[in-house]
Amino acid sequence: MSHLSKKYGVITGASQGLGMAFAKELASQNLNLILVSLPGQQLAQKASQLMQEHDVEVLFYETDLTVKENVITLCQWLNAQFDIYLLINNAGVGGTRRFTEASVQYIDTILQLNVVATSLLTHQLLPNLLKQPQAYILNVSSMAAFSPIGYKTVYPASKTFIHSFSRGLSEELKKTGVVVSVVNPGAMATNEDTCKRINKLGFWGRLTLLQPEKVAGYCIKKLFKKDRVIMVNPWSWLAMVLLPIWIKLPVLSNNIKKEIQ
Ligand SMILES: NC(=O)c1ccc[n+]([C@@H]2O[C@H](COP(=O)([O-])OP(=O)(O)OC[C@H]3O[C@@H](n4cnc5c(N)ncnc54)[C@H](OP(=O)(O)O)[C@@H]3O)[C@@H](O)[C@H]2O)c1
Repeated sequence: MSHLSKKYGVITGASQGLGMAFAKELASQNLNLILVSLPGQQLAQKASQLMQEHDVEVLFYETDLTVKENVITLCQWLNAQFDIYLLINNAGVGGTRRFTEASVQYIDTILQLNVVATSLLTHQLLPNLLKQPQAYILNVSSMAAFSPIGYKTVYPASKTFIHSFSRGLSEELKKTGVVVSVVNPGAMATNEDTCKRINKLGFWGRLTLLQPEKVAGYCIKKLFKKDRVIMVNPWSWLAMVLLPIWIKLPVLSNNIKKEIQ
């Protein structure tokens, strides 16, 4: 069945955490959605619950986005069946390891999901988005985009890529109907692991902790107002921008090192 008479928002990493918070926020605004997540995340039940709670259509697609062919197949399905007016590239992974102790798979997963899947999904869905009178792309970066951090190393670099990629694309598309925004959240209480990790960072870690529902609500409001850079932690952002690298790099790295001690 073709769904081309309706418009849909696509959210990756939508089964939990910030992705699910985006889904709830958009469903509450009566926007039709396609949720994308890894298999085995009870996505069908979560989609049907959203449909029961809100007057919207919520479809779902389960796939591993670290596999390039899966990304292409997903985009072919989306382009053939749907008018897409919104893409949220939310799926992303990180980790804290000594680089010498990281496995090939650890490095590859971060790069494939955060960098390659974000770029390819955007590239493959852009013709569809450009066909709409108004469309939006929201890329989820991180506060980690604003400084290298030892013991994380690959993750901040991947988020710097997302920030730079989003700003460049936004400039390229500024005379079209597609708005490209990037958000750089600090720590969020999205899952048990993240909360445990943040607790290890002590007072400062907990002080800046954000709730994903608040982040999602704020981001969607700013996105629809066409803000290209969305700041959810303005004070942390200011500190990151003002502090010279010779201060922030060792301070952040020493703090993060506590996670692996
Ligand atoms: N939590 C934080 O403190 C924080 C801070 C700054 C930025 N961020 C960013 O915010 C975004 C969401 O973070 P989160 O904390 O809500 O997520 P999370 O709980 O850490 O889970 C990782 C996310 O990536 C998705 N994912 C993981 N492997 C995948 C794969 N192979 N294929 C497809 N999707 C995959 C997961 O989606 P499914 O389980 O639905 O498949 C999930 O949404 C990420 O980009 C993250 O880097 C998080």
